Amino acid sequence: MVDQISHDYDTAMLDMLQIIWGEGCLSPGGPQAVREIMGGIDLSGKRVLDIGCGIGGLDQVLVELGAANVMGVDVGAPLIARARQRVTDDRISFKVIAPEKPLPFADASFDIVFTKDAWLHVIDKRALLREVHRVLKPGGRLAGGDWMKGPGPFSADMLYFIELEGIPYHPTTLTDYGLMLHEFGFEDVKLVDTNAWYCDLAKRELARMWGELFDLMTQSLGAEMRDHFIEDWRMMTVVLDRGELRPGRLWARKS
Ligand SMILES: C[S@@+](CC[C@H](N)C(=O)[O-])C[C@H]1O[C@@H](n2cnc3c(N)ncnc32)[C@H](O)[C@@H]1O
Repeated sequence: MVDQISHDYDTAMLDMLQIIWGEGCLSPGGPQAVREIMGGIDLSGKRVLDIGCGIGGLDQVLVELGAANVMGVDVGAPLIARARQRVTDDRISFKVIAPEKPLPFADASFDIVFTKDAWLHVIDKRALLREVHRVLKPGGRLAGGDWMKGPGPFSADMLYFIELEGIPYHPTTLTDYGLMLHEFGFEDVKLVDTNAWYCDLAKRELARMWGELFDLMTQSLGAEMRDHFIEDWRMMTVVLDRGELRPGRLWARKS
């Protein structure tokens, strides 16, 4: 029964996501997705803010790509504690932030704001984007990805998938991101829907869960949570196929 299992980015969820997406990575594509998102952006000497950094795996990729320093922020204090344990690179620091509150940084503090699959949890995206614009230096870049949604209301299947995830979902559409970015005066706005890419990959991930990952999942998570996550992934493929869940990427520049 879904409602007997609580896993809001708890240990089981963190273990599961890393089994699928790699050590330190809590979102599809792992390190390669960061390289793709940052492709064409010169990170050398840059000060980067990662909003919704999780346990910091992607921040390690950002410094590998040349960032001078990365500040990872997240609302999950246990995740930030784990990030600090995992990452011992003095170019990377972490901070717990309060949800739905202004970012604890001065105006024009960062060259780049990065994010990956975290803003779906933020209710007031307009307030968040206002803060992103404020903390970016003039000419600074936003580059990232998020879980987005299709234009219609959620179906029963989508609501069941969100229930399985056990985490509050407040996704918006790629179109709405574009409108809000223009509203705040961002330039060079680029939006890419990656639904087709992840539809295919998620099915291969589900097949791996039934195959090569089955024993590892059983050992790491126990049979009950293994079956829970297999059902979670099965439903994810359903709502991805329907276009209700739509991962996407976005880039913009502060004028
Ligand atoms: C799917 S994980 C992605 C983590 C990381 N970006 C990655 O890809 O490995 C989503 C993250 O968003 C964080 N989060 C949830 N609500 C948030 C908020 N209001 N502001 C910032 N981060 C938030 C969660 O704690 C979690 O670490």
